[in-house]
Amino acid sequence: MSKKATLQIDGKSYDFPLITGTENETAIDIKTLRGATGGVTTIDPGYKNTGSCESAITFLNGEEGILRYRGYAIEDLADKADFLEVAYLLIFGELPSKEQLDKFHSDIKAQSHVDEDVKKILDGFPKSAHPMGVLSSLTSALVAFNPSSVNVDSEEDMYNAIVRLMAKFPVLTAWAYRKRVGLPLDYGDDNLGYVDNFVKMMFKKPSGEYTPNKVIVDALDKLLILHADHEQNCSTSTVRMVGSSHAGLFVSISAGIAALWGPLHGGANQAVIEMLEAIKEDGGDTHKFMQKAKDKQDPFRLMGFGHRVYKNFDPRAKIIKKSADDVLDALGVEDPVLDIAKGLEKEALEDNYFVDRKLYPNVDFYSGIIYRAMGIPVEMFTPMFALGRLPGWIAQWREMRLRKEPIGRPRQVYIGENHREFKSLDKR
Ligand code: ACO
Repeated sequence: MSKKATLQIDGKSYDFPLITGTENETAIDIKTLRGATGGVTTIDPGYKNTGSCESAITFLNGEEGILRYRGYAIEDLADKADFLEVAYLLIFGELPSKEQLDKFHSDIKAQSHVDEDVKKILDGFPKSAHPMGVLSSLTSALVAFNPSSVNVDSEEDMYNAIVRLMAKFPVLTAWAYRKRVGLPLDYGDDNLGYVDNFVKMMFKKPSGEYTPNKVIVDALDKLLILHADHEQNCSTSTVRMVGSSHAGLFVSISAGIAALWGPLHGGANQAVIEMLEAIKEDGGDTHKFMQKAKDKQDPFRLMGFGHRVYKNFDPRAKIIKKSADDVLDALGVEDPVLDIAKGLEKEALEDNYFVDRKLYPNVDFYSGIIYRAMGIPVEMFTPMFALGRLPGWIAQWREMRLRKEPIGRPRQVYIGENHREFKSLDKR
């Protein structure tokens, strides 16, 4: 007999089926709840207990610190695959053969031009504009230059839209950076790998040759893999939600970028470095900031600590912590901010407040330190996260459309005024 959950409301019982995922996660299927009960709904702000979809892309177990893309452990992928292979895996479901990967890469290269008029849009932004806002706007603007909507019943049409975005997004990211630092907007070099090419687009000076540093390219490749997907987080849910109205791929991703911008999500890597800098400026007393983080009257939180789903450790943080040490060694970087980070980490891991609440360093506690060592300015940290997350967003959008999911439209419990008689202006 199939399993069920029984709900009692005012003495009446209602049965709902249980569904079980391939990793034995169980969910109560409440699709019929409102109809069966005559309008009763559920409430779960922040969706801590609510599944929004069934998905075959990423599995994570926050209690055990497991993260897998399409069944492959993040540790294996970070160690043995490159970012483009992982992007293919996430989007199309299988690791590519050599031929598939070569074709994917050459199709991306064939689309790596961005209409010159996009430069005029970029020109309209002040230099001080945050690159996440710029990136979200330019990604949305791509629609104007590629207006045909994606026919989701055509694999070919889907594929073309995907390679277009995979190709143009790194160019836009590099342009957002170059505009900010006053460098001419440039294209990359199609003879290079996807990540090498991106590094060159970022850092090449107008005079002279540029050869990407292998240490930087390898570390960035790994960081992009670690950020490539994380199932139904805030930005991914946004992409699926916007896409569920059948808005196109580019605008759905543009909305995801906006969601990622916030300091409680992708903006945390920037917030971590700003916090470490502030502690340094204040004299470097980590203990004082630990006390502030624990004080409920003080809004200060230890940025880079805690995670909505990882309540033991963040597996990505483990991988990246090692990478941070390697990169700083290889580049010979001595960074006082790193000492502050290490001090904070040590104190937090031994502090009851943090231990009791299972607050551990997350991936963003370390990623900012690596970006900084690479010479990437702090405002570009979150765009780097967006570049990594792009294949995950695309994969989730594609899955949502292929599964023909209904438009996202949550319910609410209304707590406002009951019906009131309208009073004309002269009587108020
Ligand atoms: N510093 C101090 N206290 C914290 C922190 C923190 N960083 N994070 C959580 N807490 C405390 C809360 O005050 C709360 O305490 P209480 O139970 O006494 O009220 C308890 O821990 C639980 O916190 P919630 O906010 O309920 O946990 P939630 O799962 O909703 O939030 C979040 C997770 C948003 C990541 C939170 O830990 C946080 O704000 N961290 C700092 C920002 C950050 O690093 N974000 C990056 C996330 S990773 C990513 O997006 C890739």
